[in-house]
Amino acid sequence: MYTEKDKKFKRYTVTSALPYANGPVHIGHLAGVYVPADIYARYLRSQGEDVVFIGGSDEHGVPITIKARKEGVTPQDIVDRYHNIIKDSMKEFGVTFDIYSRTSSPEHAETASAYFKKLYEQGKFVEKVSQQLYDEEAHQFLADRYVTGTCPKCGNEHAYGDQCEACGTSLNATDLINPKSALSGSKPVLKETKHWFLPLDQDEQWLREWILEQHKDWKVNVYGQCKSWIDSGLQPRAVTRDLDWGVKVPVEGADGKVLYVWFDAPIGYISFTKQLKGDDWEKWWKDEETKLVHFIGKDNIVFHCIIFPSMLKADGSYIMPENVPANEFLNLEGDKISTSRNWAVWLHEYLKDFPGKQDVLRYTLCSNAPETKDNDFSWKDFQLKNNSELVAILGNFVNRTLVLSHKFFGGKVPTLGALTDLDNEVLAEMKTYPEKIGRSIETYRFREALAEMMNLARLGNKYLTDTEPWKLIKTDEARTATVLNISLQICANLAILCEPFIPFSAEKLCHMLNLEKLPWAKAGEMLMQEGAQLEKPEIMFEKIEDDAIDAQLTRLANIKEQNALNAWKPAEPKATVAFEDFGKIDIRVATVLECTKVPKADKLLQFKLDDGTGTPRTILSGIAKYYPEPEKLVGMQVCFINNFAPKKLRGIDSNGMILSAEDRDGRLVLVTPSQKVSEGCNIG
Ligand code: 2FM
Ligand code: ZN
Repeated sequence: MYTEKDKKFKRYTVTSALPYANGPVHIGHLAGVYVPADIYARYLRSQGEDVVFIGGSDEHGVPITIKARKEGVTPQDIVDRYHNIIKDSMKEFGVTFDIYSRTSSPEHAETASAYFKKLYEQGKFVEKVSQQLYDEEAHQFLADRYVTGTCPKCGNEHAYGDQCEACGTSLNATDLINPKSALSGSKPVLKETKHWFLPLDQDEQWLREWILEQHKDWKVNVYGQCKSWIDSGLQPRAVTRDLDWGVKVPVEGADGKVLYVWFDAPIGYISFTKQLKGDDWEKWWKDEETKLVHFIGKDNIVFHCIIFPSMLKADGSYIMPENVPANEFLNLEGDKISTSRNWAVWLHEYLKDFPGKQDVLRYTLCSNAPETKDNDFSWKDFQLKNNSELVAILGNFVNRTLVLSHKFFGGKVPTLGALTDLDNEVLAEMKTYPEKIGRSIETYRFREALAEMMNLARLGNKYLTDTEPWKLIKTDEARTATVLNISLQICANLAILCEPFIPFSAEKLCHMLNLEKLPWAKAGEMLMQEGAQLEKPEIMFEKIEDDAIDAQLTRLANIKEQNALNAWKPAEPKATVAFEDFGKIDIRVATVLECTKVPKADKLLQFKLDDGTGTPRTILSGIAKYYPEPEKLVGMQVCFINNFAPKKLRGIDSNGMILSAEDRDGRLVLVTPSQKVSEGCNIG
């Protein structure tokens, strides 16, 4: 068996995970899947390869039906809305799908349905009758997500049938204690239902051989996940569901049943290829000389490495994926990206805040892509990557070269004279980049590829710094011409080599150089013709100021605060106490005589209180943050525990404890009687 390293393929089928059309797409999607897939597809095209790059929206599945129900609209309304938003974002960010289709289309239903039917007729499924929860009021079987109840693990009363979000345990709806239907609120009953299962247990052997033996070259994270799935024993998987949203199961007696979303979605890759290529589609999926590569996030590994290949194998006429370069997850400012908590940078919003800066985000996300482990996106890093790499290295090199060529040579490519050792070294190094970058891309190491591209710009910058053409012009015009000619050659090379990563900038660069788009094979060569006219230099990248970054950080801080408020719940009740026990606490009222900050203690205020005894009482309280002008508390009445064990804090004796309420945002507020009362009177 060959590996991709030693086989030359004739064509490439590149797929990217179909995003669920129940929300817009965010930076996590772009970093994890679409930027790497697009870099790969652009690179292959630049190499002159025959490529189809497939994308589209995943429009089935229970979450879409839940969202529709919540909003009182149909699932089709939901997917129509988000399909268009997602499609626009992808286009805006220059993701060059050859087709971006959708799984709610009739063409897709036809392909998915025929796929199922063929396997069904060949007896590839196992039929099983099982007990599932059924809502007798709504007359419907309940998907796991439609059942809520108490988690058997942690006791959370609001666990979902598929997962408890409090403790993270994966559940089956039938595990829940006191299950309730999310449709009618009634208690579901168990009812028999028939489903079709893909017998993955029978695929274990060839999967083990194909992945664990023949694809040791897969990324460590992908290989590791596959190994752990296979080692823990594969179970048959139901590929149908009792639901009214999806591709109908094309079998008699299967009314009210649809294909499981994870059965129909990957078939989307095939049906979209059919839509794109018509009768010619099969060679993209069935010819051994086609290389099939799936770009996905880590949560999709089992579906693309085990379940979909088993489906393909069951049909028997398809090729297998050659690689599945799944990425890990991207976090945002240290926290997991979450749609429900609005903890994300949405692509359509980014474009409003940073119009025309698609490449800055593509660059940042690629240079920080979660290729081998989860990674973090931070706005400060985004600013740094823009200002000290795109602006200071790439933009600066191109700008200096073009400005000087205009200034000294009227915007014409100057003549290349005799070459010095330095020139030869620089040109020799320039020639190494196309292969270096290409090799990294072909092995799915996109961060490394991007870093190499930037190193070429660094080489150019260093060359200018070493040769100083702005000084040289005063003494040696011919030598200056050579230096700028070489610098322009590096610019032209960059225009080819940066295109997969930052295509908008590549286009700008080609325009300035008056160069048409050139294929990868041309990189390494001298591409600028002496005497050719250059266009006026334009700024490729602008500095991003602190204000723009601060605005994003403030937005996120507000979201975080809002999330904390939304998540707030009154504390769990404490155990009951007897009256006698309560009576042991001696709570009294006092009037504030003085209140000052405790030096060198951020949190503490020192109170001097009139507690009615005639001797002022000192109590320290950790509320300084909430009372920035403590002198204003003088004259106010507070409640304190008189018999609280004395404590020494910062060398001061504190005698008692002042009561305060903790609000939902964590703010501490002093408790005070609603009317003035005598100092020392009891509370109870
Ligand atoms: O995880 C997801 O967002 C899925 N919608 C990906 C589906 S990929 C493919 F199989 F269609
Ligand atoms: Zn739980």
